[in-house]
Amino acid sequence: MDATHPLNNTVNPAPAKLGEALSVSGVIHAYAGAPAVDDVSFEVPAGGVAAILGPSGCGKSTMLRIISGLVVPSAGKIRLGGRDVTGVPARDRRIGMVFQNYALFPHMTVRENVGYGLSGLSRAEKREAVDKLLALVQLEKFADRLPRQMSGGQQQRVAVARALAPRPTLLLLDEPFAALDRALRADMQFEFLRLQRELGITTILVTHDQEEAQAVADSLIVMNVGKVEQMGSPSELYDRPKTLFVNNFVGQASVLSAQVVAESDSASTLRLATGNDIHLPRRSGFMRGANVVLVVRPEHVVLHASPVAGSLPARRMMAVPQGPLRLHDLVLADGTLLKATERRAPGTPEAPAADDVHITFALDHCRLYPAP
Ligand SMILES: Nc1ncnc2c1ncn2[C@@H]1O[C@H](COP(=O)(O)OP(=O)(O)OP(=O)(O)O)[C@@H](O)[C@H]1O
Ligand SMILES: [Mg+2]
Repeated sequence: MDATHPLNNTVNPAPAKLGEALSVSGVIHAYAGAPAVDDVSFEVPAGGVAAILGPSGCGKSTMLRIISGLVVPSAGKIRLGGRDVTGVPARDRRIGMVFQNYALFPHMTVRENVGYGLSGLSRAEKREAVDKLLALVQLEKFADRLPRQMSGGQQQRVAVARALAPRPTLLLLDEPFAALDRALRADMQFEFLRLQRELGITTILVTHDQEEAQAVADSLIVMNVGKVEQMGSPSELYDRPKTLFVNNFVGQASVLSAQVVAESDSASTLRLATGNDIHLPRRSGFMRGANVVLVVRPEHVVLHASPVAGSLPARRMMAVPQGPLRLHDLVLADGTLLKATERRAPGTPEAPAADDVHITFALDHCRLYPAP
């Protein structure tokens, strides 16, 4: 093992960061004429963690396969650390990949699985390298077990150690935590972040779980039918989604149909499908008569026991406590479903099963889009 190996911290006590910047530009790929990835561009800085997020079939795994070199795109470029690697075979890209099902070799022990990609080392060097990797993922005691003798979370850590062995500059993870229960998943996300920060490996994680994406990534790439809808920090996408799709996909949101009935430089009026008018203290940006949707996050719905100025009547179907919050399922007069959350002080009495309430919106935070 060479002295500059970042995992070899007996020789190199302050390990250099492994990660390299990734640049994807104008990538297109079609399977038998059907586009799966359609003109995708994004950048991930060295050492950054990006999550690709989107519904089933939107092209996430295809994008990872293209980055890793398993699939050659019909157009576009992949650059790693500034080098064009588009034509470089997968095995020469120094990219580690963890597949959704971990894809461990079932007949090999943990030690053999992790050491599989280590070449050009003596037996002793290989043993030492594998020991370090196992220590890193805290599986020293499991070296001689077979994958089937381990839990899902432990197997996942073996897969991560195996992917790290050839010293990748980029780590690709395809739904790595999907098979785990909620508690174990949270542990693994935390563990993984610790490891990632320690090694500084640029990482791309595919998930369709938006909470997971927000928990582990410093930037989110939201894909929809082969295209990038929006990329940005988790809070940017949550607070300022550019499209209805992103608004609905990142975080929870309720969608209210409306028409713009008045528009001036400083105010606008929306008529909801319920017949109620909502006065926005700003331009809507739409023409009078335009059909729009008003999108409201649960924390931007305010509940009142009796009518207040500008309030809408709603029927509360259900209210359930969730830790410090209470979640309400509401129905408006036209049948539109609306979710609301409010802070729940300890000892707050539970709400009755079904009752009538009145709601207003924190209008500064509600967003408008053209009706789909
Ligand atoms: N080998 C293949 N041959 C033909 N079509 C494919 C192939 N692999 C994927 N596709 C199609 O390409 C599109 C994108 O697939 P991809 O696997 O990238 O989606 P995904 O976003 O990873 O979805 P999921 O969340 O379900 O894993 C889908 O319509 C899929 O059916
Ligand atoms: Mg997939």
